[in-house]
Amino acid sequence: MSEPKKLYIKTYGCQMNVYDSERMSETLGGQGYVETKSPEDADMILLNTCHIREKAAEKVYSELGRFKGLKAEKPDLKIGVAGCVAQAEGEEIMRRQPLVDLVVGPQSYHRLPEMEAKTRTGAKALDTDFPEEDKFEKLKNRPKAKRGPTAFLTVQEGCDKFCAFCVVPYTRGAEVSRPADRIIREAQDLVERGVREITLLGQNVNAYHGAGPNGDMTLAGLIWELNKVDGLERIRFTTSHPNDMADDLIEAHGTCNKLMPYLHLPVQSGSDRILKRMNRSHTAESYLRLIERIRAARPDIVMSGDFIVGFPEETEEDFQATLDLVQEVKYGYAYSFKYSTRPGTPAAERSQVDPDVADDRLQRLQALITQHQREIQDAMVGRKVSVLFEKPGRLAGQMVGKSEYLHSVHVSDADVAVGELRDVRITNSGANSLAGKLI
Ligand code: 5AD
Ligand code: SF4
Repeated sequence: MSEPKKLYIKTYGCQMNVYDSERMSETLGGQGYVETKSPEDADMILLNTCHIREKAAEKVYSELGRFKGLKAEKPDLKIGVAGCVAQAEGEEIMRRQPLVDLVVGPQSYHRLPEMEAKTRTGAKALDTDFPEEDKFEKLKNRPKAKRGPTAFLTVQEGCDKFCAFCVVPYTRGAEVSRPADRIIREAQDLVERGVREITLLGQNVNAYHGAGPNGDMTLAGLIWELNKVDGLERIRFTTSHPNDMADDLIEAHGTCNKLMPYLHLPVQSGSDRILKRMNRSHTAESYLRLIERIRAARPDIVMSGDFIVGFPEETEEDFQATLDLVQEVKYGYAYSFKYSTRPGTPAAERSQVDPDVADDRLQRLQALITQHQREIQDAMVGRKVSVLFEKPGRLAGQMVGKSEYLHSVHVSDADVAVGELRDVRITNSGANSLAGKLI
């Protein structure tokens, strides 16, 4: 038998890209590729790119430039660009960087085998279509390899919301939900391979409306179906939009035993004036009332969010409203970003906030968030949590896992295996993790 070809994939950005990279690796597995951790060994290098951060495309070009030497040594090396930069830039990438053999957008990954074959003839392959066929069905032909205890599962993709700052509706396209039966089958397959916790992924996951046996299903309906899968212990989902937080989903947080008490619900700003300019179609007040209802259903839920500071025309007063909202919600986790322009989005045309002012606001917001994060983590000391153990820790005999609230928990001298779910009493709260003892 010939040596397997080696594939090096570098993944940037969100969890959906992590999921997509796994699917790409599996589908190229069918072409005789095995993954390698070093680009020097690779016969094919794939960059799975993200377009959400500033100068994303420039970073991809400079990363590609670094492969020049490798390609000179190894003319058969194929270099590909996948993900949202591939979708956004398309042919421009091939024009600007002749090293690139293949450009594939997120909706075309199932076509990778043919594209790879095409590059082997010396031709270039480009596909950034939004095809009709179901890429997930085409991607599912994969070996039954054993998996770790946690996995991502994409249930919907794309977004119809068009927030004024965001590229996702352009790079990932319109909102599309996968049929429920396929998701359930994929979940069952993951469980057979050792997975105990599944995070359902979608850019607008709670807008999920995939076909079910009796018409379209809601995300809550899907979660209730997954709740029945034997051996699956935990369900999470991300990322949600406040406007799609349906009553049945809020209720499921109180009643569905496998649904974890953690919710990532980005608000972006606490100022109604800015929210309107962002085209968010919710207000600070409607968001706060929503959180009240979620907490009424599940009082111990840990909230997480995303914020943008320095959005065009944001005043100090607008920013204060954001701090007020954070003060009221108290997030266990939150991700805050300085606004940066994305060409082609409506906000890119507007007058920008002074970068020093935006930096200062970002620091103030992050300080407040960190303080709450710490308080919420510290309040876990003395409590009993359930921990899904994911890997050995750095110290001998130590094991690390995640609590239901997504806190990392370290246990010393832990007689537990990876994949075990155990009750733990929290004894200590450190900088970024908790420590505890098995009960
Ligand atoms: N500038 C800064 N942050 C952004 N995000 C999305 N687009 C931009 C942008 N142009 C942030 C939002 C989103 C998260 C994934 O990234 O907060 O929720
Ligand atoms: Fe982007 Fe999320 Fe707004 Fe959709 S809802 S446009 S993905 S920020």
